[in-house]
Amino acid sequence: MAHRASPPTPDRRRFLRWLAASPLLATIPGCAPPRPGTAPSGSGPLPTGQSTPPAPANPLGPFSHGGAPPLPSEAAAALDVFDMERVAATTVPPAHFGYIQTGVDGEETQLGNRAALERIHIRARRLVDVSRLDTRVTLFGREWPTPIIIAPCGSQKGFHPEGELATARAAQAAGHLQVLSTVTSTAVEEVNDARGEPVWYQLYATSNWSVTEAVVERVRAAGCPVIVLTVDLPGGSNRLTLERWSRTDDRTCVSCHRPGGRAPTVKPMFQGTEYRPADFRTPGMTWDFIGQLREITDQRIVVKGLMTHEDARLALEHGIDAIWVSNHGGRSEGSGQATIDALPEIANAVNRRVPVIVDGGFRRGSDIFKGIARGADAVAVGRPYLWGLGAFGQPGVERVLEILRRELAITMRLAGTPSLASIGASSIGTG
Ligand SMILES: Cc1cc2nc3c(=O)[nH]c(=O)nc-3n(C[C@H](O)[C@H](O)[C@H](O)COP(=O)(O)O)c2cc1C
Repeated sequence: MAHRASPPTPDRRRFLRWLAASPLLATIPGCAPPRPGTAPSGSGPLPTGQSTPPAPANPLGPFSHGGAPPLPSEAAAALDVFDMERVAATTVPPAHFGYIQTGVDGEETQLGNRAALERIHIRARRLVDVSRLDTRVTLFGREWPTPIIIAPCGSQKGFHPEGELATARAAQAAGHLQVLSTVTSTAVEEVNDARGEPVWYQLYATSNWSVTEAVVERVRAAGCPVIVLTVDLPGGSNRLTLERWSRTDDRTCVSCHRPGGRAPTVKPMFQGTEYRPADFRTPGMTWDFIGQLREITDQRIVVKGLMTHEDARLALEHGIDAIWVSNHGGRSEGSGQATIDALPEIANAVNRRVPVIVDGGFRRGSDIFKGIARGADAVAVGRPYLWGLGAFGQPGVERVLEILRRELAITMRLAGTPSLASIGASSIGTG
């Protein structure tokens, strides 16, 4: 069901006025400052933590002395990822914040991702030795200390001037696997340098094969061991929330957009290729594309965006190395189908033959736990780290990842599951 945001309450207006005067407000080079309080009044994205309409008078929850709880003034003060979302709402320019928050249509799918996670409960077992926790996961022979992955998200300089470099340093600091978007605002070589090792690379194919070939060759030469092929956006999607937020933002941001419009400048990964904006849609792409890719690279290939067991089986038949269950964070089809609900049929079809990754609405350690319990090897997050990035840059991303790791550890201890391997179908329930 669609969440309709009401116009700002007096509390929210006071809160935004306070923020306007605070040093938290960062600006993006080349852009006029954001204008807090200009949130659009249509179906709105703030905050996504609220999945059940109608919004309470104070959308931030009960607070006995009235008004909103104070915003964290530094990354370390954030208690959960929604604290970061509240800060990012004030620091990221409106159109860019709308780009983070948007799903499609009336946000049914984005809200569905959260609602389905919230419907699952954890079945806690007692008197298990949880004095040592093991959260390690091995993907393609490489061991990671945590199953929490940085999902590929484009245009990160739109949220903080250091963009993908800040994310790379934060992910590296705690050993999180990071996947870099094709529409990154920073070239892969620079991100790899910042991280100190090659990242995984997310590929948007183009309808011009020579462009795709050039991009794949470039990331192969940069040492990226894995290509994550995103297949859930063949031809655009209906992002109404983005449109609403963009209409409140009259800045002209020539550092990122072509003069006179919203169209982006050519992204770094397409520079030096024959890329034209019309190439970005791939409505004609079929499973044959996997064979084409195999001919030009020996990198591992992960397919991102599957939602059905039928497609999981086809992926296995086409020799895919891992499957990523995703609906693009509710930004592709407006089906309302939650990824956590699609996960079991896919995990069953895959039957541990290749790794399974899931994303979509994972906001707490307990959500990560539920993803593992339903058969994922690893769980990726998108918006939470973008909120951290937009709020405080690298320390914000570090804090978001720290919060999620800590919450996962707490959940594992309380559920009596000392290792990821000990989390299974019987660790959760519904109803
Ligand atoms: C601002 C933003 C940009 C994104 N850009 C990409 C992208 O370039 N490539 C891609 O495969 N997915 C992209 N995604 C989808 C994420 O990889 C991921 O599937 C999704 O964010 C997970 O849902 P969550 O945000 O609810 O955690 C983007 C998501 C957001 C929020």
